[in-house]
Amino acid sequence: MNKAIKVGINRIEFSTTENYLTLEKLAEAHQIDPAKYLYGIGQSKMAVPTPDEDTISIAANAAQDVLNTMTPEEVNTISTLIFATETGVDQSKSGAAYLMGLIDIHPNCRAFEVKQACYGGTAGLQMACDMVRARPDESVLVVACDIARYQQNTPGECTQGAGAVAMLITADPDIIEIDAERGCYSADIMDFWRPNQFKHALVDGELSKDAYLNVMTSSYQGYLVNGGKPLDQLEWLCFHQPFTKMAKKAFEHLSAQYPEQMADKTDAAYSISQQYGREIGNTYTASLYIGLLSLLDNAEQDLTGQTIGFFSYGSGAVGEFFSGTVNKNYRHAINTLANQQKLAARTALSYDTYCQYMYQLRDYDQANIRYNPTSGSNFRLAAIHDNKRVYERVLEPMSKAA
Ligand code: COA
Repeated sequence: MNKAIKVGINRIEFSTTENYLTLEKLAEAHQIDPAKYLYGIGQSKMAVPTPDEDTISIAANAAQDVLNTMTPEEVNTISTLIFATETGVDQSKSGAAYLMGLIDIHPNCRAFEVKQACYGGTAGLQMACDMVRARPDESVLVVACDIARYQQNTPGECTQGAGAVAMLITADPDIIEIDAERGCYSADIMDFWRPNQFKHALVDGELSKDAYLNVMTSSYQGYLVNGGKPLDQLEWLCFHQPFTKMAKKAFEHLSAQYPEQMADKTDAAYSISQQYGREIGNTYTASLYIGLLSLLDNAEQDLTGQTIGFFSYGSGAVGEFFSGTVNKNYRHAINTLANQQKLAARTALSYDTYCQYMYQLRDYDQANIRYNPTSGSNFRLAAIHDNKRVYERVLEPMSKAA
């Protein structure tokens, strides 16, 4: 591998739904103390998709936002579109192929989907970094999107959410250079799964928390063996966040295992990366990178030259510990105000409307159905016609609209 070539994230955008449910309302409906969800789980809101939103439409919004920051010449350098999800809409056709029909990308690229629970986004990112190390003139668009959905009235319900992240991977990146050193750990663990006949995930919650922490330790050890930086050289930590309390547990676990390396770290080292996730809920493949964006947008100090340690976990299970260094151009390359506005402009739902959107009207089994335009975003699922999904773009690209 050519480690001399600097590669990493040159652009990053996120999208989520325009509606949310507060965890207070969920606690009221479940007749439990809201403090369990707000502090015990560490979530304040969950993003709720409308019936005409799915992983493709939510992903398209984030991907198009990245393309909107690029010149046509830059778009032409994209050799590959990688779509990561564990809540895909088709067993055969990739979400990336759907995106090819929706966003302003050229057709001369390979487009495919990757899956390994919440780890898929990192699989895509690392694959993309290696592709760009091998061909530095090319770029790769990585899109990660999920709708986290559990059975109603189960312990997982309070950790639902929905969102996407899109990242453009290039040489000499403006936002963060991803180090070549990494540590991975994979094992067959039955902590979280979704058989084909199920519309919601099945989870062994306690096992998943233990597996997360054990896989993190093994991944970090592998990262060190492969030449990675010890924790005391990583100023910030971004953990996969199924719910923010899990990232707190990860931080405490590392502090207990490596007290000397963690001695100088305060909670701020990981908690700034939780601000967006707390408001959105679990986004599976996108969650770690929405955490990165939360840190970049909300850290008051200049992060230039500072190093971030990342832990990505996907149940089942695969973990990866890696690191990256923030570039001096990062503040110009991210859209902090727009990101904050995306969250501030959302609408709070009643519990009854949440139940309709999340459980009663979310029926994709029908061969023919039209969806009312409920979502206010630029891309939506308009219909299923003869078992074919039909998406709609509200704002046509300038060239087509003219
Ligand atoms: N006030 C404050 N905190 C409270 C509380 C209250 N009134 N009541 C409970 N809590 C705390 C508990 O002490 C616990 O904290 P701890 O984990 O630090 O000990 C936390 O809230 C959760 O309570 P618990 O009883 O363990 O929750 P649960 O059995 O309802 O399930 C999960 C929690 C995470 C297992 C469940 O939401 C789940 O399965 N989520 C999906 C799986 C997942 O995301 N796994 C993560 C790894 S990928």
